[in-house]
Amino acid sequence: MDILLAEHAGFCFGVRRALEMAEEATGRHARVYALGPLIHNRQVVERLRAQGLVVCEQPETLARGSVAMIRAHGAGPTMYDLARERGITLLDATCPFVARVHQKAAQYARDGYQVLVLGDPNHPEAQGIVAHTGDQARIVQSPDDLAGLRLQRQVAVVCQTTQTLESLQRLVAALLPQVQELVVANTICDATARRQEASLALARQVDLMIVIGGYHSANTRRLAEICAATGTPTHHLEDAEELQEQWLTGVAKVGVTAGASTPAEAIEAVIARLEELAAQTSK
Ligand code: F3S
Repeated sequence: MDILLAEHAGFCFGVRRALEMAEEATGRHARVYALGPLIHNRQVVERLRAQGLVVCEQPETLARGSVAMIRAHGAGPTMYDLARERGITLLDATCPFVARVHQKAAQYARDGYQVLVLGDPNHPEAQGIVAHTGDQARIVQSPDDLAGLRLQRQVAVVCQTTQTLESLQRLVAALLPQVQELVVANTICDATARRQEASLALARQVDLMIVIGGYHSANTRRLAEICAATGTPTHHLEDAEELQEQWLTGVAKVGVTAGASTPAEAIEAVIARLEELAAQTSK
């Protein structure tokens, strides 16, 4: 049985960087507070907790002198102000691609544009982008949301980094006839698109797809949906123990991919277990 690993499986650059910063920080400080879960992966979160990384959802409760970490999603300016006022040492793991969206959105707001953020209103990244415009920007999920807005003559659009190009194109097409001046910053990060495309291409070549990642990870679930939509039997699992021997019956090629929060160790463990099971079934 051939086992093929999709290109771009697992951590994106921003998540890998945040984890490296967390590992380094827990080596230097007895306790580090992460301002929200760093990653949707139970094993990694548990390992980091054992090393002293504690999730804190209410930074205003942190004691003076605490060490806190902003995750790859970024945070609004009030977090930086709070850290200054309270003497909190801030480790900033904001992904540079997210920081670029903050800068763009803030600049457009300063230049007098009505700023629209294409994104998910419940997602901390989109909320952080709005905060960087002094809460002037509005989040829109689709052109349907424009109906509830009083559009100004000059509008600027930025995107939460995980949006799709199709959504941006739909929003721009809906805005164009309604505004006098429209500026668009395509701030989509292509890490997600590259991972999805590679997984889709692999799913089309194999008899079985294994998608590894947290059950709560939206990008992993989406990856599993994309692979399953090809008609190739697809299983989403969190770790190697969940692999079942009977899935491999009659399978000549198995594809493996993983969501953005899946560490290399988890991918390696699944591949090793697949090799073991393949050796058993071929006996
Ligand atoms: Fe950064 Fe893109 Fe990952 S914005 S956190 S590299 S998905």
